[in-house]
Amino acid sequence: QELKLNLEQIEKGGYEHFMLKEIFEQPKSIQDTMRGRLLVDEGIIKMAGIWDHLEKFSNAGRIIIIACGTSWHAGLIGEYLIEEFARIPVEVEYASEFRYRNPIITEKDVVIAISQSGETADTMAALKLAKEKGAFIYGICNVVDSSIARITDAGSYTHAGPEIGVASTKAFTAQLTILSLIAIKLGKHNGTLSNVKFVELITELDAIPKKIEEVLESTHDKVKEISKDFINAQNFLYLGRGYNYPSALEGALKLKEISYIHAEGYPAAEMKHGPIALIDENMPIVIIAPKRGHYDKIVSNVQEIKARKGKIIAVVNKGDVQVSAIADYVIEIPDTSECFSPIVAAIPLQLLSYYIAVYRGANVDQPRNLAKSVTVE
Ligand code: G6P
Repeated sequence: QELKLNLEQIEKGGYEHFMLKEIFEQPKSIQDTMRGRLLVDEGIIKMAGIWDHLEKFSNAGRIIIIACGTSWHAGLIGEYLIEEFARIPVEVEYASEFRYRNPIITEKDVVIAISQSGETADTMAALKLAKEKGAFIYGICNVVDSSIARITDAGSYTHAGPEIGVASTKAFTAQLTILSLIAIKLGKHNGTLSNVKFVELITELDAIPKKIEEVLESTHDKVKEISKDFINAQNFLYLGRGYNYPSALEGALKLKEISYIHAEGYPAAEMKHGPIALIDENMPIVIIAPKRGHYDKIVSNVQEIKARKGKIIAVVNKGDVQVSAIADYVIEIPDTSECFSPIVAAIPLQLLSYYIAVYRGANVDQPRNLAKSVTVE
């Protein structure tokens, strides 16, 4: 027993929990995801899985992304990325819904499954269905040689390394990195992305690990402090727009999973169609508002919340003025292209849920009722 405990201590590498270790591993895990693929000096993205089946992707009538949980959130961001850069229509579905609704799938469809474990039963079953109907099936998995990796026609591993904490962190940002690479690569080959834009995007993507390092350094203590003020919160709202609407969903999921505080993510503009009724001085609201991407619209959403006395925690870019002036708490992250901002914004949101859960005395690595990989339906 003692030996086992010591071994676990060693595995945690000096961190109190696997989740915190994995949060801090992200500069490296993202680098590992890009290694050998993103070759900025040569101006190329090397991905055998895509290259070998370029025809399939380029001629796809549409791409259907299927996943569960956090991987589904990555899929939503993948939709924004692929539609913006490669101009291929994308649908994102919960695997559990997709498989039971007699979906229309044709041989022209490309189905991408995203799964950290590569073992999620619903995702696996949805893929089998797509394969039976003749679709080309592609996997984005973290665990090498997992069931999904083996059943798919081709795929890209995320190479984030083993993720032990039940709440997914580094696997999520690795999934976003892979989806970015795929979208930009397809955009280049489809001619829907100019060379100038291609170079601009890959240069920026290459800088992401450095920015993650920066954001870990600059926000860790601050987020830890902020967390103390919310240990008794009963609800949380997370709002974002565009690329950061799925970031809001993921931020809320992380908090729910490990702190057991009820949280909802919403597209900021939808607030007026319901959630605004919930806002009073007891409602903490996390706003993800980097300056690129509907910033002015977010400012007016923040004003509406302030007028109703909601407690605002704003994730903004360094040097932000407008949202920061209204917010109760400000977390600054480095600027990047709008399409990569969910990768950077994920970090303080992970830390926020982590510290709130720790201060509440929750078992963050093994939250109640949850499993790391769900192999039953
Ligand atoms: C479980 C895990 C989540 C994960 C989801 C999908 O619910 O607790 O962290 O996002 O399954 O898992 P997958 O391995 O398919 O990404």
